[in-house]
Amino acid sequence: MEIIQAVRFSPDGTALRIIDQRALPGKLVERDLRTLDDVCDAIRTLSVRGAPAIGIAAAIGVAVIAAAAPEALTHLEFRQSLAHAAETVRGTRPTAVNLPWAIDRMLAVLGREHVNRDALVAALRVEASAILEEDRAMCRAIGEHGLPLIPGRARVLTHCNAGALATGGMGTALAPIYLAALEGRDVSVFACETRPLMQGSRLTAWELERSGVPVTLLADSMAASLMQRGSVDLVIVGADRIAANGDAANKVGTYALAIAARHHGIPFYVAAPTSTVDPRTATGAAIEIEQRDASELRAIGGIATAPSGVATYNPAFDVTPASLITAIITDRGVFSAPYHFEATRP
Ligand code: MRU
Repeated sequence: MEIIQAVRFSPDGTALRIIDQRALPGKLVERDLRTLDDVCDAIRTLSVRGAPAIGIAAAIGVAVIAAAAPEALTHLEFRQSLAHAAETVRGTRPTAVNLPWAIDRMLAVLGREHVNRDALVAALRVEASAILEEDRAMCRAIGEHGLPLIPGRARVLTHCNAGALATGGMGTALAPIYLAALEGRDVSVFACETRPLMQGSRLTAWELERSGVPVTLLADSMAASLMQRGSVDLVIVGADRIAANGDAANKVGTYALAIAARHHGIPFYVAAPTSTVDPRTATGAAIEIEQRDASELRAIGGIATAPSGVATYNPAFDVTPASLITAIITDRGVFSAPYHFEATRP
């Protein structure tokens, strides 16, 4: 099974290479990004998306911007311009904690002493590569920890895209599913389409089909009724930020799935790397939820689906309370309430 690489360095190391997720499922397009504007634009427009992937993109972005900075800058100007670039990237999306987590790691490297500018540029590159490699390993570990939770015949419902396209490796929510499929188990997936930007239908259905994992697409509004029919064995979703008490922000619609799963007695798992756990956020109430543009609700693919001036409410994420989560699958093991994540932070 070939796991697609959504975010990485270009082979010559001069660019951040992403799969442009806006073009999927129609076209598989890779883009090389070299400037601050291009990196920020790619994150804001969801060309690169998913909590771990945007953290990795931010880190690689800072590393390539550093390598391309004008030679004429003094060492102080160089450091100041990089710090400014890093803070600008941090500001692109507010909810996924992986983004500030990765930026803080890059700023920590920038804050250290280096013999010269070349050494600093090299150290930034090493750190960005480490963030990518660690994420790859964390995805695998999430898969291994989650695998025992997948029954012999498993019909798994998922939401949004928490697969390879959203990470540096095989995904978070999809990692146990990929490993179960690799073992030859009878595992299949129901993918909610995930309005309004359709990450479930455009991305999850695409990557599962490509990997040969049976996948059935459904409208978001069908999920509760599918559970009522007894067709779902478990739910696994990703997360963008997990508060210290286990409340988890994820793509809007996740909370409704958790309520429906609880009503029908179906296990509801959140799968995420420790880079998504935010011990500084006490509860979900403190998580900033990104509000997105009205145009995403008023049109699909450029075709109007609502009156052009209608008022909209378009948060990108919602928060599922810990009380509705059966367990959180991380790279360091499976946690359940009461959550003690302090020990999970690298
Ligand atoms: O707006 P997106 O597409 O970046 O939202 C992504 C999600 O909500 C994912 O479920 C989450 O980031 C986990 S990805 C491993």
